Amino acid sequence: MHATAPLLLLLAAACSLGAPRNTSFPQGFLFGASSAAYQVEGAWNTSGRGESNWDRLIHRHPECISNEATADVAADSYHKYQEDVRAAKEVGFDFYRFSISWPRIMPQGNLSLINQDGIDYYNNLINALLANNIQPVVTMFHWDLPQSLQDLGGLMNPAIVDYFEDYARLLYTTYGDRVKLWTTFNEPYEISVGLTSACEAPADLVSPGFGEYLAMHNLLKAHATAYRLYDREFRRRQGGKVGITLSAAWAVPKSQSAADLEAAERYLQFTVGWFAHPIFSQEGDYPSVMKERVARNSKAEGLRRSRLPEFGPEWVDYIKGSYDFFGLNHYTTKILSEPATATVSQISMANDMGNLVTEQDDAWPYGAATYFRYVPFGMRNILKWVSERYNGVDILITENGWCDSGELNDTMRTRFYVNYLAAVLDAIYLDNVQVIGHAAWSLIDNFEWASGYSMKFGLYYVDFNDPDRPRVPKDSSKVYASMIKNRSLPEEYLDKVEE
Ligand SMILES: *[C@@H]1O[C@H](CO)[C@@H](O)[C@H](O)[C@H]1NC(C)=O
Ligand SMILES: *[C@@H]1O[C@H](CO)[C@@H](O)[C@H](O)[C@H]1NC(C)=O
Ligand SMILES: *[C@@H]1O[C@H](CO)[C@@H](O)[C@H](O)[C@H]1NC(C)=O
Ligand SMILES: *[C@@H]1O[C@H](CO)[C@@H](O)[C@H](O)[C@H]1NC(C)=O
Ligand SMILES: *[C@@H]1O[C@H](CO)[C@@H](O)[C@H](O)[C@H]1NC(C)=O
Repeated sequence: MHATAPLLLLLAAACSLGAPRNTSFPQGFLFGASSAAYQVEGAWNTSGRGESNWDRLIHRHPECISNEATADVAADSYHKYQEDVRAAKEVGFDFYRFSISWPRIMPQGNLSLINQDGIDYYNNLINALLANNIQPVVTMFHWDLPQSLQDLGGLMNPAIVDYFEDYARLLYTTYGDRVKLWTTFNEPYEISVGLTSACEAPADLVSPGFGEYLAMHNLLKAHATAYRLYDREFRRRQGGKVGITLSAAWAVPKSQSAADLEAAERYLQFTVGWFAHPIFSQEGDYPSVMKERVARNSKAEGLRRSRLPEFGPEWVDYIKGSYDFFGLNHYTTKILSEPATATVSQISMANDMGNLVTEQDDAWPYGAATYFRYVPFGMRNILKWVSERYNGVDILITENGWCDSGELNDTMRTRFYVNYLAAVLDAIYLDNVQVIGHAAWSLIDNFEWASGYSMKFGLYYVDFNDPDRPRVPKDSSKVYASMIKNRSLPEEYLDKVEE
């Protein structure tokens, strides 16, 4: 592992030799911040909201969440959204990305009941943002599924496609006059692979090696259906854009051997191509490396069909091209290699991938979670990879951020944003990648799923023991504000690249 570090530094340095870096943001580049309903809203059982799969998990399995924390109140954004808007305004953001809680507006998951308090809440939030010149960017689904739909199997039940279409239609009809940027699903990878963990919702459908493939299959159909619905019934009148938000780590091959180069690419195809290839590639459908490997393993396991479901040509065509932009969540980088000896483990996606070895470099700094390492060059590389594989697609970075323990003098968060954004600018100016904007994760500290409140990503500090949950600006929010105002990177925080 250590042996790779100097090589990586050299590679990083070599990339930036030549003309001095352009540290100014292009005209029209959008700055934003992100959040998600379940992580900030609270008010889980008031004002007509229905139960979600995550409510069910944290109440039935408190031991799953760090310090047995709950999101019952979280940052109380249901009551304090105006303070969130004020914070976004204070930094000078062009947009605020939030998600709508499906069970808050459709408590039973279907149209039999529409909760007016929930509808009003998002109307108020959207109107408050627009009144402050902040564009709303809306995620339709950020992991919190109505429990009534979870009871039917959730994403594993193909019926989810129709339920999602009804939900999407309600959202376009209700908010589409003012919301012009939509993403259908946030992080399909985490949602689907979460199904293989006993401590991520729904927790009781653990089914590695087929559950995640089935869930993704239905999710991709639901996404495309919501996209096509917009095309048919709303686009002409509302003129907005619909995309999807995909998470992607960068993968560095551990060595330049053919095997490791292939390992890194295979890792990206399984963890990004799995859902990006069907939507964004010219050919559509799952990546061939995935189709081949899962089919081969399934056969060896005595199965008649591949555990990776088949779309058939009609769905391939329907899903292919169902995007107006690519939403990218990026945090960190991993080092990939082929295992020294081929191993076969239990049926799982990891086994289908070839039980690749993933490591990180000890020299890469980390904050409150050892796996969230600071690796700015990974940002430039993943942007380039996405752009090259998917035909120069417009990319909106929908999440990117640093977690620590919540200190106000958060110098490392500032350094993270400045240098990751420098890498974004390199991708734009040197690699010709079309990046339309960047959203910081997150505007305020929030409930980080199974990590509870132990990881803080906010530009604003929230004291979760204070019943008022005041939002307190961290130092990073002030540097961010001046960066947006000046539309260029503050030089004093830029890492010096050795030449
Ligand atoms: C740097 O980028 C800005 C904004 O896109 C542009 O106006 C300027 O000409 C660029 N400077 C150089 C030296 O390329
Ligand atoms: C709502 O949930 C809280 C726990 O977060 C509980 O104390 C309260 O009794 C519940 N209210 C109702 C109306 O069920
Ligand atoms: C949907 O609506 C009906 C009422 O017509 C209700 O009885 C049913 O349980 C609801 N839930 C789902 C998941 O469809
Ligand atoms: C932040 O402040 C605390 C207390 O004053 C100090 O111990 C810590 O080193 C500071 N951290 C940074 C990153 O400046
Ligand atoms: C503002 O931007 C200009 C160039 O775009 C740069 O020279 C100057 O140092 C920046 N100021 C700050 C405070 O970052």
